[in-house]
Amino acid sequence: GNESTVSITVVGASGDLAKKKIFPALFALYYEDCLPKHFTIYGYARSKMTDADLRNMVSKTLTCRIDKRENCSEKMEEFLKRCFYHPGQYDSEENFAELDRKLKEHEGGRTANRLFYLSIPPNIFIDAVKCASISASSGNGWTRVIVEKPFGRDSESSAALTKSLKQYLTEDQIFRIDHYLGKELVENLSVLRFSNLIFEPLWSRQYIRSVQLIFSEDFGTEGRGGYFDNYGIIRDIMQNHLLQILALFAMETPVSLDAEDIRNEKVKVLRSMRPLQLEDVVIGQYKSHSKGGVNYPGYIDDKTVPKDSLTPTFAAAALFIDNARWDGVPFLMKAGKALHTKRAEIRVQFRHVPGNLYNRNFGTDLDQATNELVIRVQPGEAIYLKINNKVPGLGMRLDSSHLNLHYAARYSKEIPDAYERLLLDAIEGERRLFIRSDELDAAWALFTPVLKELEEKKIIPEYYPYGSRGPVGSHYLAARYNVRWGDNG
Ligand code: BG6
Repeated sequence: GNESTVSITVVGASGDLAKKKIFPALFALYYEDCLPKHFTIYGYARSKMTDADLRNMVSKTLTCRIDKRENCSEKMEEFLKRCFYHPGQYDSEENFAELDRKLKEHEGGRTANRLFYLSIPPNIFIDAVKCASISASSGNGWTRVIVEKPFGRDSESSAALTKSLKQYLTEDQIFRIDHYLGKELVENLSVLRFSNLIFEPLWSRQYIRSVQLIFSEDFGTEGRGGYFDNYGIIRDIMQNHLLQILALFAMETPVSLDAEDIRNEKVKVLRSMRPLQLEDVVIGQYKSHSKGGVNYPGYIDDKTVPKDSLTPTFAAAALFIDNARWDGVPFLMKAGKALHTKRAEIRVQFRHVPGNLYNRNFGTDLDQATNELVIRVQPGEAIYLKINNKVPGLGMRLDSSHLNLHYAARYSKEIPDAYERLLLDAIEGERRLFIRSDELDAAWALFTPVLKELEEKKIIPEYYPYGSRGPVGSHYLAARYNVRWGDNG
C-alpha cells in the first residue's frame, strides 16, 4: 500500500551521545506518540553486539520523566522491541548493504524513509556518509542524514567537509545539528521578541546598550580531552552555540516562519558581522585547585592532553554587527569550562533613561539602574526583567526588582530535551532549526582569522583555578566597551 515507514539508524550507537541523548530522545518521542506508526530503530557500530545487548544498553538510560505516567515500563518494553543492532565498520559499503537488507525486511514493501544519525568522530565521517548513502539510502522514500559538529575546525576544512558531503548528499538531505537551537528558551527567543510590543520596538542600538551571551559549566573536559584539545572552547561553544543564539537574537524580521526565510535572515546578520579581532578576545585555561580537601585537576592533568597545551577552556569576546540596527552595540560572549557554576543565559542590557529624574536616588552606581532582560536558557529556565522601583517606606530610595517568568512555576509539564525536538523535526523534514551550509561558512568566517592568530602567535591563556569565576581579563574586555558582565562573573 502507500503507507510509509521510517527507519532510524544511529551510526555510532555505543557512543556517549547515542546513549545519553539520542536513544532517550527517541524513547521520549515514542512515549509522546510523536513517532510514525511504522518505525524501526537500528544501532550501528563496530562492536560485536546482539539486539539484546543493544536493548540492554539502551534500557539503562531511558527514563520515564514525562508526567511520570504509570504505563512507562510497558512503553519501554514496546520501544525496546523496535530497537535492533547491526555491527559494521564505518567505511564498509558491504556492511551498510547488509544493514540495507535488514531494513528492507522491516519496511515490508512500504514507502521507506530513512534517517541516519551520524554520531561518530570527524575522521571517519565522510566514509560513513559515503557508505550509508551508497548502500543504505532508500530507493523509494526520503533519505536524511543528521550530522553533529565539529564541522571542520576553520573555514577551509569546513568548506572541504561540505564539498565531500555534497558528493553523496544534497543540501536538502543534510541536517546539521546545533543542539542549542533545540532548547526551549532559544526557540522562544523569536516569540519573545516578535510577539511582544513592549520588546519588539526596543530591539536595536537605540535602546540596547549591550547583549551578553554567557555559557559556563562547573566541570572540566574530563574524559573528552582528546577531542577538546584539537578544538578549544571557541570552536566548541562560541562559533556554534553562542553565535547561533546571537544570530536569532539579532536578525531582521523574517518574511515568514519558513525555514528558508529564517535562515536567510540569520545568514544576513552573520555576514554583517565584523570578524573577531585579537584584541577583542581573552582566553583562559583552568588549572588544578584544592578545595575542602578535594583536589580538582587542571586541564593539562588530563592524560589525553599534551602538557604544553595552550588550548583555551575559557574565552570572552566582543563582537560587532555593522548594520543600521546594531551599529556600535557590543555583543559580549563568554564561555568556559570548570567555572563556579553551570549556566547558559542571554542578558540584554538597556541604556540609561535619558535625564533620569531619579539618578541621585540610586547613589553613585548608575549601572545598578539599567533595565536588564535575562533569558536563562538553563538550568531553571526563566525570563526575567530587571526594573526599578521605590523601596517601600517614607523615604525615596530606589531598588531593582525582577519581573519573573519562571518556567517550572508557570508550567507543570517538563521541558523536552533539545534532541527530542530536533529529531522530530528531522523526521518531519522541518529544517528551521538546522544549520544551512552558507550559515556555517559565515560562522567560520568570523572566527577563523582570530583562531589562526591565537595559534600561530601561541598566545598564552590566562590560567584560572578550577571552580573559579574565570580570568579577570574578561572584566577588562567588558570595561573597554564601557559595560559590565551582568552575571557578576
Ligand atoms: C557540546 C559541547 O556541544 O555542548 C560540550 O561539545 C558541552 O563541550 C555541551 O558540554 C553543552 O551542552 P548542554 O546541552 O549540556 O548545555
